[in-house]
Amino acid sequence: MKVRKAVIIAAGWGTRFLPMTRTQPKEMLPLVDKPLIQYAVEEAINSGIEQIIMVTAIAKRAIEDYFEPSFELENFLQKKGQTRLLKKMRELSNMADITYIRQKEQLGLGHAVLTARGLVGNEPFAVILPDDIIDARKPALKQLIEVFEPRQGSILAVERVAPADLNKYGIIKAGRISGGVARVLGLVEKPEPAQAPSDLGVVGRYILTPAIFDAIAQTPPGRNEEIQLTDAIALLLADESVYAHLFKGIRYDTGFPLGLLKANVSMALKNPDMRTELREYLKTVLKNETI
Ligand code: UTP
Repeated sequence: MKVRKAVIIAAGWGTRFLPMTRTQPKEMLPLVDKPLIQYAVEEAINSGIEQIIMVTAIAKRAIEDYFEPSFELENFLQKKGQTRLLKKMRELSNMADITYIRQKEQLGLGHAVLTARGLVGNEPFAVILPDDIIDARKPALKQLIEVFEPRQGSILAVERVAPADLNKYGIIKAGRISGGVARVLGLVEKPEPAQAPSDLGVVGRYILTPAIFDAIAQTPPGRNEEIQLTDAIALLLADESVYAHLFKGIRYDTGFPLGLLKANVSMALKNPDMRTELREYLKTVLKNETI
């Protein structure tokens, strides 16, 4: 079957960004010149996804408004003759077919995925965590879909993780890696380094078969008392083959202030309109710092 739907998970509280996230969804924080959520939507579209399901929560209205047309603003820009901006605003609201659903209680990532069950139905689907920004020539999700197509089994995006960071990720036990793909033999959520079965950490892109929903429904709360997607995938392994893909690209964890700042600097240095001035500015800052 083809992967037609992507579920973008944006219901977490974003406590690491408090106090900003009291009134502002973390997914609306800026990365260079766009909010984080727009990168997730664009990656889905550029990967051939036809329908986007966004799992949100209370205090996330700004996300829904962002992708809606604003006729008042469009009229204003038209009157002012700001045609380039007007075109940009129209492209934004026509960008994708997005359906929203709310996770009523923040019971964990696994629970957030389960919230989308009715909208996904009985077909394989993609999951995107918008905190993980992946800068790649071929969109990371598209890479995963290409790995899924001949195998028709769940695919997890993985990357190598430094020893000190193993306890921040779901870590897989992997079979032999061939062409960047390995069978997943087991997985553990946020292990202590000594208990980690490998250095391959799961990052925020997945292709999942619909069997994951029953697995999540059977998953008890795990780490932090949350229903963990990793634990549900570990259950799924008993019935289905699951694969890991070492995708090509640079991933930025924008889920905490310093990570977002680093992503901003790196991505802005790639932006032709900003690169030269930013480089000069950074040099000056570093020079003054050492004085
Ligand atoms: P995080 O672990 O980053 O949690 O969630 P968070 O609440 O977003 O942020 P912090 O840790 O409090 O700062 C990983 C992903 O799972 C989603 C988040 O939106 C993020 O995409 N999530 C987490 C939910 O949608 N619902 C939940 O109940 C928990």
